[in-house]
Amino acid sequence: MRIYREKDYDAMSRRAAHVMAAEIIHRPDCVLGLATGSTPIGMYKQLIQWNKAGDITFKEVRTVNLDEYKGLSPEHDQGYRYFMQKQLFDHVDILPENTRVPDGLAADADAECAAYDAYIRSLGGIDLQLLGVGHNGHIGFNEPADVFVTPTHVVDLTERTIDANARFFATRDDVPRQAFTMGIGPIMAAKKILLIASGEEKAEAVYNTICGAVDPHCQGSILQLHPDVVMVADEAALSKVIAAGVKV
Ligand code: F6R
Repeated sequence: MRIYREKDYDAMSRRAAHVMAAEIIHRPDCVLGLATGSTPIGMYKQLIQWNKAGDITFKEVRTVNLDEYKGLSPEHDQGYRYFMQKQLFDHVDILPENTRVPDGLAADADAECAAYDAYIRSLGGIDLQLLGVGHNGHIGFNEPADVFVTPTHVVDLTERTIDANARFFATRDDVPRQAFTMGIGPIMAAKKILLIASGEEKAEAVYNTICGAVDPHCQGSILQLHPDVVMVADEAALSKVIAAGVKV
């Protein structure tokens, strides 16, 4: 795992944008696995700027998102399709038909999961998968569990995740209790992984992810077994790793 230690959120965002832009330049029709949440917003802003300046183009890029709340429509302002439109897709030259987010309203959840994995396979897998990390070490919405679940599936969100995400909803009760998430299979099959983290509140999850035992109770720890992970994090997020004497 290559670790880039950056001084703050802005520097982390810029470095992460460089890694993603390099992939797009190197492989214009690449398949990007994308994430939502607070962490990638600065990175997406930077990519939008470079796209507007003509430095990168998304014309041939295909994207698959990690997850979506079950029960939320694409237009719901807390849904992840909506997030992607507002934070990236509406501002760059990507073709709408080349973007995919799980359908939160799918009547047959099992069929939606199977179709999602089949779609990823039909693209030839993911070239670069972007991941944030949850406070509990989740990646996508793969929550702490006794096992790593391979395919895309529906997951019950933990109380900790519901608490963390309540900040975006009018009330905690409005946070959906379930989500579709890409499983560990397609994530680990990605050719390259870009893991990003910012802030002191992620320090423990980052430590467990990169220094802890490979354990499904910290789902991010499976990334230690992936051959090509680039982690970009700010000093606050790396503080526990640094304190443990690991050279980053
Ligand atoms: C989002 C996702 C989640 C987030 C994680 C961190 O699509 O899959 O795993 O990456 O919860 O979220 P933030 O960036 O909001 O701290």
